[in-house]
Amino acid sequence: MTIIETVVLLQEELSKYRDTGKTIGFVPTMGALHEGHATLVKQCVRENDVTVVSVFVNPTQFNNPDDLRLYPRTPEKDWQLLESIGADIVFAPTVEEMYPEPDSRQFDFGGLAQVMEGAFRSGHFNGVAQVVSKLFEYVQPHVAYFGEKDFQQLAIVKKMVQQLKLPVKVMGVPTVREANGLAMSSRNQRLSDAERENASAIYRILRESTSLMSQKSPNQISSWVKEAINNVTGLRVEYFAIADAYSLQPISNWKEADEVIGCTAVYCGDVRLIDNIRYK
Ligand code: PAF
Repeated sequence: MTIIETVVLLQEELSKYRDTGKTIGFVPTMGALHEGHATLVKQCVRENDVTVVSVFVNPTQFNNPDDLRLYPRTPEKDWQLLESIGADIVFAPTVEEMYPEPDSRQFDFGGLAQVMEGAFRSGHFNGVAQVVSKLFEYVQPHVAYFGEKDFQQLAIVKKMVQQLKLPVKVMGVPTVREANGLAMSSRNQRLSDAERENASAIYRILRESTSLMSQKSPNQISSWVKEAINNVTGLRVEYFAIADAYSLQPISNWKEADEVIGCTAVYCGDVRLIDNIRYK
């Protein structure tokens, strides 16, 4: 496994593979890797000749400076994990390498970016699009893998690829969970054992809510979920929305959309967690 810090060296290394017609798979990450990332990387290794993983904590997607400062960073552990599961190239640039000058690009994803995470984390998806478009330009992958835990991010990356007409296939990979149901996230490292236990209620409640569909409207289920989560010690719901899984616009009637997703952000202490569940 080769660890590369500059765009020039990355492209030099990748051209060897490209020239011999190898397929390049890509997993963008912010490091502090866990089993969820490992699942993305393993799938990438299985499906491509070469696997590139980027590890870069992207400052432009953080709207809260404390969240950026406290974001876990575990490079040595990350390299070990990536080597053990067969990644070929790790791209770990500095902030200066990725942003030699400020990125002033403004993306417009319409309604997709105005709800849920977009409504509560101003500028977040613009920052994600800035970094992912740069990474796609540098790596030029055939396929890129993203976790479905960040459901809205996945929708936005797909939209960006469509808007910029990039020749990359974006693959969503199902959320990996702890034994107690908690969605794996780098932020879980900041939870105490007791908080992890409390946070496991999020997915339990989301699952339970799917069984209420025949009795309750989307709005009634939303109120039920928010109340149930807020009643768990240490948890506070920031939002819960039931939406069309394609447009991400809220629905008020189950018949309004063929595919329906419920997405939430919940504070557990001062750690912000997100999760989602399919209703249909
Ligand atoms: O999901 C993440 O870890 C990040 O948002 C991503 C896609 C690596 C961009 O920084």
